[in-house]
Amino acid sequence: LGYFTYDPGFMSTASCRSDITFIDGEKGILMYRGYPIEQLAEHSTYLETCYLLLYGELPTATELETFTRIIQKHSMPHQAIRRFYDGFRHDAHPMAIMVGVFGALSAFFHDSTDVHNPHHREIAAHRMISKMPTIAAWSYKYAIGQPFLYPDNELGYSENFLRMMFGVPTERYEPNPIFAKALDLILILHADHEQNASTSTVRLSGSSEANPFAAVSAGIASLWGPLHGGANEKVVRMLEDIVESGQKVEHFVDRAKDKDDPFRLMGFGHRVYKNYDPRAKIIRKMCHELLRQMGAENQPMFEVAMELERIAMEDDYFKERKLYPNVDFYSGLILRAMGIPLNMFTAIFALARIVGWNAHWCEMMQDPESRIGRPRQLYTGAAPRDYVPIEKR
Ligand code: CMC
Repeated sequence: LGYFTYDPGFMSTASCRSDITFIDGEKGILMYRGYPIEQLAEHSTYLETCYLLLYGELPTATELETFTRIIQKHSMPHQAIRRFYDGFRHDAHPMAIMVGVFGALSAFFHDSTDVHNPHHREIAAHRMISKMPTIAAWSYKYAIGQPFLYPDNELGYSENFLRMMFGVPTERYEPNPIFAKALDLILILHADHEQNASTSTVRLSGSSEANPFAAVSAGIASLWGPLHGGANEKVVRMLEDIVESGQKVEHFVDRAKDKDDPFRLMGFGHRVYKNYDPRAKIIRKMCHELLRQMGAENQPMFEVAMELERIAMEDDYFKERKLYPNVDFYSGLILRAMGIPLNMFTAIFALARIVGWNAHWCEMMQDPESRIGRPRQLYTGAAPRDYVPIEKR
């Protein structure tokens, strides 16, 4: 028993060495490959950030052009993949569809089982980054019963996703450039976050040398939970509940503080950031700007959000526990303002994190210290005893 460290939730266990992302939760610092998130948010694009996370360096203009072409080339899933959607109920959650369809992709790329071949690993990463917008958008189209749109490779990554979400085959769709920019920012900010639950899941499932598409499907499942990627969806549901209840925001803040009440303020607090989440700082500005530009500030839900932000940040309970609004508080608001349906919020988080999962999987597969993940436990069950025949129990 004494050989193992008991660390539920892995609060103080480093599971690997990694060169990809640095977080200092006390100081509120986040860097991808050494570049501060603030600079990437201001100057980069999602695809450039993908290149950085995968290859460790910012691309030259030629490298970025080649990478963009490769990503565009793989954007169509196999035609048979379309049929997987038909197996789902009409009201399936897009994340449920994505877990299934992504897992199914593992059956289409046999070269990906050669996980020790760096070239095959790279192609697997390209395919996943490329197909993710199509798979995510189709899961929404399926849910609303509209025809699926094929990718338009003339468009940028975020624009293409918006078109596949909101376009219809009979009309020309012009993606709103403000929305495309906001989405690209959300994707950059969510692209990686070191050993969070879903990335650790991808690493753990991948550590058995499983097919990477299947390992990433496990990551999507982990992300779905409300304490992880599901939080942005929960934020909006909570705000809607507050508006509908007609009660004051203070009432909900009090409930969140009450230890006998399971209610928590969704979009507040973070396991690592015990200071302001640096991503929240960036996205907060974009959120306020977008709401102003759209004239949406006075809509009840956004008014409630701003009031909640103000009250909670002045409240001693939240101050003492260093519970600040996290990135999902604002990404939920932005996505809502853009007209993205609620059940697609976490799917968009998955869209962003696809590169992080792949960067970590590739890093793990080439790390000579990497071994199959196999946590131990502290056994708390029955002492040794003898089997009792059923008639004597
Ligand atoms: N509302 C009210 N109280 C809270 C909240 C909250 N949102 N978050 C934490 N607390 C309290 C908690 O009750 C505890 O109080 P005490 O010390 O008196 O027992 C203290 O703060 C520490 O909380 P914890 O649950 O031990 O912290 P954790 O690191 O295990 O959990 C968290 C982190 C993010 C799961 C949690 O803060 C939470 O549930 N937040 C709401 C859900 C959310 O917004 N999740 C998105 C996280 S960011 C995106 C991502 O990484 O996926």
